[in-house]
Amino acid sequence: MKASFSRREFLRFASAGSALLLARPGVSQHASQDERGPGQATSFNPDLELELRASRGDAPILKGEATRVFTFQGRVLKGDRASLQPLAGGYGGPIIRVRRGQRLRIHFVNDVDQESIIHWHGLHLPEAMDGHPRYAVAAGKRYVYEFEVKDRPGTYWYHPHPHGRTGRQIYLGLASFFLVSDDAEQAALLPQGEYDLPLMLQDRSFGRDNQLVYLSDEGAGGGMMGGMMGGGMTGRGMMGGGMGDMMAGMMGFFGDQILVNGRPNPTLSVATRAYRLRLLNGSNARTYKLAWSDGTPLTVIATDGGLLAKPVQRPYVTLAPGERADLWADFSDRSLGSELVLRSLAFEGTMAMGGMMGGMMGGMMGGMMGSSSLPDGAAFPVFKLRVERKSRDALQLPKQFGSLTRYRAEEAINHRSPRAFEITMGHMRWGINGRSFEMERAAEDETVRLNTLEAWEFTNDPSGMMGAMAHSMHIHGLQFQVLERRVAREFAGGWNSVSPGYVDEGWKDTVLIMPGERVRMLLKFTDYTGLFAYHCHMLEHGDTGLMRNYRVRA
Ligand code: C2O
Ligand code: CU
Repeated sequence: MKASFSRREFLRFASAGSALLLARPGVSQHASQDERGPGQATSFNPDLELELRASRGDAPILKGEATRVFTFQGRVLKGDRASLQPLAGGYGGPIIRVRRGQRLRIHFVNDVDQESIIHWHGLHLPEAMDGHPRYAVAAGKRYVYEFEVKDRPGTYWYHPHPHGRTGRQIYLGLASFFLVSDDAEQAALLPQGEYDLPLMLQDRSFGRDNQLVYLSDEGAGGGMMGGMMGGGMTGRGMMGGGMGDMMAGMMGFFGDQILVNGRPNPTLSVATRAYRLRLLNGSNARTYKLAWSDGTPLTVIATDGGLLAKPVQRPYVTLAPGERADLWADFSDRSLGSELVLRSLAFEGTMAMGGMMGGMMGGMMGGMMGSSSLPDGAAFPVFKLRVERKSRDALQLPKQFGSLTRYRAEEAINHRSPRAFEITMGHMRWGINGRSFEMERAAEDETVRLNTLEAWEFTNDPSGMMGAMAHSMHIHGLQFQVLERRVAREFAGGWNSVSPGYVDEGWKDTVLIMPGERVRMLLKFTDYTGLFAYHCHMLEHGDTGLMRNYRVRA
């Protein structure tokens, strides 16, 4: 493969970019060839140049017939070939491994028959590089990303983000890891190579033909009222589309089969030594309460934005959609042939029925919950580890990983009155402070200043007509710190069944907010002005409007 593009290919990319430029509202139709719009290659000289092509494909997930999926095919066009690694299992895209400070150019080629765009989840990037839904490109088009990796070493990920279709496209297979390292991290004596295991946890449902089952378009964000009118409560039954899918769309989709890197019920063969297990919850709506089957506490070394200051222990780790946790798992004391299972434990309270839903619609919702054999909060095994090899490598868990600067609450310009974000449901539509997603807009109270530290508080108010559901709030463009959490007394039961598994000591970009909970966080807006999304990472919630923009002003 060539090390760089020929001039001809450059022109081809440039012209795809120009078409995009012309299609943008507010951009002059007479823009000269030299004017750069978002998504075009420039004279930027990358250290690493990749192509990621989204297309249809087949994956051998279950026994028998292959499953039709969406897949990312990756190619290294320039730079280290080891930057792309296949995700075992063939479902999901390649793992991208980069180093801090590297300059990247990534050509996203959209070969699926619907619009798409890639978001680099957790990275700190200029707005045009972030993969916001407003940059989605049509089928057959490209988008060129160029950026420098400025992020702390850690477990990030990437996935599509076209509005209303994010849930469907991730569900069909478009998601994988984006791992950042640097010299300091490599010197930290952490497990590396085959002992550093990225594990993407997802729940899926399959029909009898081994094909993935998801919501109808109406349920997945393509117009909920349409679904209600069209399907109604008659006909094929609650889950056959229409009303059932509309409700499932509002609540989130729960598959009944757990996949780890695209494989059902995997058993990982390990050696008697320490591993780094990078867990990513890539599920659409499911939260995991992860625990070792023999009661060993979990040792967490990193969260969304990289290493903690030092390892922490938890009886279990609560991982909401979009979140990551890196575990230190040491099998050196275990005997050959022994097995250990990472389980998800039962929990409650993620769907606290109340208000109108608790009353007149309670029965219907109950019926729907029963339709997944693995409802939210159910217990199940996630994967099994079998100790099969002796190893003499005796890595010790480091006591310290280096410094992690904690923001102080008083440093926030609004620490006395945090910016308030209430998750709301009105007219059968999710929103934040009563507003649903608007592609190009941020309101005045969603506008912040560059180089300020702010306190934000998200409230999951239990009094809405849907009752209350858990949400997994993700903020684009930065890593934040959780300052404090509180829960309304009547919701303490559910909260107590998951909150000991929160890991708030480190950098976060996604945070679980249980019914009745409020989470206060500290965020600093640096380097980049522009429009960035924040939304629920329970993908059906985001796709049906639980998403807004915030604007960073100079
Ligand atoms: Cu991982 Cu806006 O998403
Ligand atoms: Cu949500």
